[in-house]
Amino acid sequence: MMRRLDELGAISDQRDSLTRLYLSPAHARAIAMVRGWMQDAGLTVTVDAAGTVCGLLPGTDPRAPRLLLGSHIDTVRGAGKYDGCLGVAGAIAALELLRARGARLSYAVEVLAFGDEEGVRFPVALTGSRCIAGGLDPAALDVRDADGTSLAQALRVFGLDPDSLPGLARRPADVFGYLELHIEQGPVLEAENLPLGVVTSIAAAARFAFDIEGQAGHAGTVPMHLRHDAFAAGADFAVALRRIATAAEFAVATIGRATVPDGAVNVIPAHFAFTLDVRAPHDATLAAVIGQILEASAAIEAAHGVRIEHRRTHHAPATACAPWLQQALADALARAGQPVKYLPSGAGHDGMAIAPLCPIGMLFVRCRGGISHHPDEHISAEDAKIAIEILADTLQHLKPPETQA
Ligand code: GLV
Ligand code: MN
Ligand code: MN
Repeated sequence: MMRRLDELGAISDQRDSLTRLYLSPAHARAIAMVRGWMQDAGLTVTVDAAGTVCGLLPGTDPRAPRLLLGSHIDTVRGAGKYDGCLGVAGAIAALELLRARGARLSYAVEVLAFGDEEGVRFPVALTGSRCIAGGLDPAALDVRDADGTSLAQALRVFGLDPDSLPGLARRPADVFGYLELHIEQGPVLEAENLPLGVVTSIAAAARFAFDIEGQAGHAGTVPMHLRHDAFAAGADFAVALRRIATAAEFAVATIGRATVPDGAVNVIPAHFAFTLDVRAPHDATLAAVIGQILEASAAIEAAHGVRIEHRRTHHAPATACAPWLQQALADALARAGQPVKYLPSGAGHDGMAIAPLCPIGMLFVRCRGGISHHPDEHISAEDAKIAIEILADTLQHLKPPETQA
């Protein structure tokens, strides 16, 4: 599995770093590679209209609902090779381990490799998983990437049919759960010297596109008190953001991308455009933080004599992992003599989009130095081996709820 992750990690849209955005040429090559892994593992493979690679392994009881396993194969810019891909390669490896042991599951398992979890190319995240759960807003098809290509156009160029997306929704009666293996992307397991942890919940998240409109002017002639500098207003916004998020319990707020369109060294910025990503463990905290940010924004607007506009581009409520799936993972850890550590996730995951369809569970793998969304992201082969064994053992002991005694 580690070799496969190295090979997948080499598929990039950029020469010197790993960047694999949704519906890009690198995404197409990644789909072909994952398809091959799934076929080698004996799965029946299809690629759905959202570009999700779906590999099905039938169970011995054709009437049993199926279990979904998976994660995403898109990346951020300058990514590490484990975020998302570990959950896909790990699911396949766990099924291969069961096959090598001659173990057959009563229920069918479907491995899903989603093409858009990160939401980096288009200001929509979780496209593949939302489609599976029937939760994609049809308006998402009109959103555009930085080159002005709409999601619908990009799907067509990729050979996919955007009109088929609504038909991808699974019926709740056909699916009894979703399990995802993922790198922790934080420092908690390493600090506690543990290879694995059971996720309790995923933080609520919202993303926005902000635009500040000020007034251009000559950088040498307009006195400071007469300026309507869009960037200066944005700088005050960033300071206010930091104060507000720091004061709220476990909330985080990030401006990850910011530009002065058509800026020049000797021109007062007329425009400042930036993204905002806000997260908190509870929906109420997130709503309160966003409310305070928008109040601060109104005050900055008045103070600088600028106009501040914003659009919400993403919203995902806090998502609880199902207690019975947490228990199933904890039981497998206990059977292997591993301590059971429970922890929440600050990062977003495909499970958030799947949760309206079926109960979800997640297993985290220790992340070296807590570093993620960066080329230095790393897990050890030893931890990966334990993770695959725990996932395989969980699958072997899992019972679809209706067949539970
Ligand atoms: C996904 O990695 C996210 O949490 O933004
Ligand atoms: Mn990520
Ligand atoms: Mn991820």
